[in-house]
Amino acid sequence: MNFDTAIAADIIAAADFLKSGEIVAIPTETVYGLAGNGLDKNVVLKIFNAKNRPHFDPLILHINSIDALNLYTKHIPEIAVKLAQKFWPGPLTLLLPKKDIVPDLVTSGLDTVAVRVPNHPLALQLLALLDFPLAAPSANPFGYISPTTAQHVYAQLQGKIPYILDGGPCGVGVESTIVGFENDKVIVYRLGGISIEDIEAVTGPVQARISSSNPTAPGMLKSHYAPKKPLITGNVNALLNMFSDRKTGVITFCKPATGATEQIQLSPTADLNEAAKNLFAAMRYLDNSNVDIILADIFPETGLGRAINDRLKRAAAEE
Ligand code: TXA
Ligand code: MG
Repeated sequence: MNFDTAIAADIIAAADFLKSGEIVAIPTETVYGLAGNGLDKNVVLKIFNAKNRPHFDPLILHINSIDALNLYTKHIPEIAVKLAQKFWPGPLTLLLPKKDIVPDLVTSGLDTVAVRVPNHPLALQLLALLDFPLAAPSANPFGYISPTTAQHVYAQLQGKIPYILDGGPCGVGVESTIVGFENDKVIVYRLGGISIEDIEAVTGPVQARISSSNPTAPGMLKSHYAPKKPLITGNVNALLNMFSDRKTGVITFCKPATGATEQIQLSPTADLNEAAKNLFAAMRYLDNSNVDIILADIFPETGLGRAINDRLKRAAAEE
């Protein structure tokens, strides 16, 4: 299907497309999502097709309040309710046993479904106009960097979708943290916008199961979030020496580097939340610039620094 893709902030227009079974890009606080009726498997199929996403990679259902959780999930552990009460709306996704109403295509045949309440006013207002949840993966072609502005979405999905709901740049900038439960034990499957420290303050110690290649959760595939240009992480000054004969694009946390062709400091004031917010736009900018290679700092392994390092490592992975 070839659409004349519109970008605007009209939730009624977006809702009309969604009600008629089309898919629409929506803003969330983490990244833009490619959204459709999560209860209609034909619509969900459109999402997979627009993204070239393999069917074994399950989607997240977006709802607008904790009250809707019961409609789509069952056997909700008390600790999950506690986490939802603390962090929703917000960048936390919970994996819970699914009810039959959720199509198997959404969960790639798994018996758990991923659910979250996004913290973006337009997404929440839009959901309030709908009587179904929105299945939405990040609105990028499979494997590429997630979009954090409406323009990022347009650059890659124009023609494939009718509407991009423009909610401005995403405030968090990395995807949600994904958490599951095993006999009330809390397991973190993807590092994201809520830090491990903040989760542990609610639950006590969690187990991190951040695998580099887990076939049931390809968002955790080693090579993901990847620019087209090679990206190398490490000590940026040492890397700049190694690649002094190349046009280099550098991503640092807060300090300037010398000798780079292009460079972006993600947070001159050394704020990891600000760095996370700017990360994907920086990767995209350098990928579209005239540099041959992207060099990135390793960030402090604390707070959102962990999610930043995770995304950079996956962007750097070859396969
Ligand atoms: O912040 C976010 O989570 C964004 C915004 C749009 O909400 N969405 C997002 O979706 O990052 P996506 O599809 O790019 O990543 C979802 C991840 C995938 O890695 C998928 O494998 C995992 O969630 N996932 C979904 N359902 C799962 C399940 N039942 N079990 C394990 N992993 C699951
Ligand atoms: Mg994604």
